[in-house]
Amino acid sequence: MESESSEIVEFFTGKSILITGGTGFVGKTLIEKILRSCPEVVKIYVLIREKRKQCPAVRLQNLLNEPIFQELKKLQPNFNEKVVGISGDATIPKLGICSEDVEVGLPLMVPIVVFRK
Ligand SMILES: NC(=O)c1ccc[n+]([C@@H]2O[C@H](COP(=O)([O-])OP(=O)(O)OC[C@H]3O[C@@H](n4cnc5c(N)ncnc54)[C@H](OP(=O)(O)O)[C@@H]3O)[C@@H](O)[C@H]2O)c1
Repeated sequence: MESESSEIVEFFTGKSILITGGTGFVGKTLIEKILRSCPEVVKIYVLIREKRKQCPAVRLQNLLNEPIFQELKKLQPNFNEKVVGISGDATIPKLGICSEDVEVGLPLMVPIVVFRK
């Protein structure tokens, strides 16, 4: 993505995105790739549901500690500051995003939504 696809890098510059499926195989690969190749992306909001009694915040921490992010961590030690967990569930209307997250203007800040389930 780095050199030959600079249009993609340009596209993500200054943008924030919301993705679903970020804890899955494809989603975590996508998060890592965007952060590594598009360093000017502002935020990646990740819709995460509670699972096996683990709250979304804990799941996000576990996700960011996975081996796939270790190389990125060396390049961008603070990469985790760009990844924000949003509690929700894709089967619930409005993705189950709580009013608190809506009130801080989440939909207005996020022009790109990658929906993967
Ligand atoms: N893997 C491949 O090689 C491949 C190739 C081509 C296409 N695809 C497609 O890409 C998509 C993702 O595949 P994957 O391999 O990444 O699957 P995966 O590892 O099973 O991940 C699925 C993701 O979707 C999330 N999810 C499922 N139901 C949800 C819900 N109700 N609300 C919020 N999140 C929900 C899961 O969250 P939890 O962690 O909470 O379960 C997880 O993050 C699928 O549609 C698949 O068909 C995959």
